[in-house]
Amino acid sequence: MHTSRTQCSPFIKWAGGKRQLLAELDRRLPAGWNTYFEPFVGGGALLVHLGNKGQIRSAVIADINGELINLYQVVRQHPSDLIAAVLKEEFRNDCTSFNTCKHEFNRIMGLPGHEIERAAMLIYLNRYGFNGLWRVNNKGEFNVPFGRHADRALVSETSLMKFSTLLARVRILNDDFGSAVKTAKRGDFVYFDPPYMPLSKTANFTDYNSRGFRFADQERLARLFRKLSKKGVHLMLSNSKVPEIEELYSGFTIETVDAKRFINCNGQRRKGTQEIIVTNYEY
Ligand SMILES: C[S@@+](CC[C@H](N)C(=O)[O-])C[C@H]1O[C@@H](n2cnc3c(N)ncnc32)[C@H](O)[C@@H]1O
Repeated sequence: MHTSRTQCSPFIKWAGGKRQLLAELDRRLPAGWNTYFEPFVGGGALLVHLGNKGQIRSAVIADINGELINLYQVVRQHPSDLIAAVLKEEFRNDCTSFNTCKHEFNRIMGLPGHEIERAAMLIYLNRYGFNGLWRVNNKGEFNVPFGRHADRALVSETSLMKFSTLLARVRILNDDFGSAVKTAKRGDFVYFDPPYMPLSKTANFTDYNSRGFRFADQERLARLFRKLSKKGVHLMLSNSKVPEIEELYSGFTIETVDAKRFINCNGQRRKGTQEIIVTNYEY
């Protein structure tokens, strides 16, 4: 496998990010595949990991979050313009600058013609917002508060350029997971990393978009998993270790792994917890 010296790293910290679990996922990869699909891409930790290992020939990524997908598209098409936009002087590490940006971001959210600006703002809001979360109110407005972080670089230029090169081989979709894998066929590999089923009534892992991800969506996903498995697609899925989810994937290989993660929606409590990795193949 080809590995290049400049590695790229995710340019965004996303709730539910898989950096902690990468070694466990890596150990359970299929022996080989054609197209790689990541229909809940978030910060794309596994995509980047596979890209760095030279294991992405072609890929399809998707997420329901339109601003996140706009960011991926801008990284692919206009990396230099994005780097220039991120270096704007207004992107300062203080609450007033953060709130001004948040206000402007909400004004232009989804607006065509502002793609690069929106992408740069999302990088800034993600870096300096509370715990790098994405959260919207019932009007669909981004409402994460200022995070009081130490000064940090907004982007690494070399890593972002490398990411842009990787994305040249990737179809990027702002779509539901079901549509995102429509073209998956025998010999392809899909990694599903849905919003996790809450571990308890207080833990809320459904705040990724204004609609949330309900148990009915977990069931819809499990039906899709079975359908794709029959087609001969290699499948790997992660979720929290709760009996309702384990039941949905009965008959497949389910392994329990330890993970450290934020366990509530405002990310204040971080503790060790158990997750499951489901696969439909031998590794
Ligand atoms: C657990 S996160 C993925 C984390 C990612 N693997 C990472 O390393 O950062 C789940 C993602 O699913 C997205 N999502 C929620 N509902 C979705 C749906 N119906 N279809 C596609 N993506 C969805 C959310 O916007 C969020 O980015």
